[in-house]
Amino acid sequence: MTDLTYDNKLHLKNIVPPEAIAEVDHWISKYPAERKRPPIMAALKVVQQHNGNYLTDEMMQAVAEYLDVPHIAVYEVATFYTLFHLNKVGKHVISVCNNISCTLRGANQILQHLQNRLNIKVGETTEDGLYTIQTVECMAACGGAPMLEVNKVYYENLTEEKVDQILSEIAQIELNQSTEDKGESNSPDSKE
Ligand code: FES
Repeated sequence: MTDLTYDNKLHLKNIVPPEAIAEVDHWISKYPAERKRPPIMAALKVVQQHNGNYLTDEMMQAVAEYLDVPHIAVYEVATFYTLFHLNKVGKHVISVCNNISCTLRGANQILQHLQNRLNIKVGETTEDGLYTIQTVECMAACGGAPMLEVNKVYYENLTEEKVDQILSEIAQIELNQSTEDKGESNSPDSKE
């Protein structure tokens, strides 16, 4: 694990922008002052979002200091939930459930298809930095097994065709985004 000696340079305010601090403060304000641990999860989500979808040791330390909780309390949350990433990941993290119901209903085949399509293995990220595949425990959608989650959307009753469709939708979103970005950079305003 990390050196837990706190370095003042790692103050959360030096790590994330003011709007992120405001968001963390908002979550803190929802709980009585003596209840310091409940906002950990929300604070980590905010910080992760402002760091390209992953957390560093320094960030977790900074969150602990900011919330005035033991460092270990933050590590426990960050390492327990698969929504937190402790290494750099792709822009779209595809979480495939491999728990019992999903496995019995063909999760392995879905996973294999996904790996073939993206040409990466579980835990890897595509070279363009767009996709990471991970496996996760039950996501409480067993009735729709096999399932996966990506970009906060659950996709259930998966088939290989459905996986292809999901990937096409994401690719289309990426295409629209890059067209928009190009449009903005070519606009007269951007040349001022
Ligand atoms: S086993 Fe996959 S959602 Fe429950």
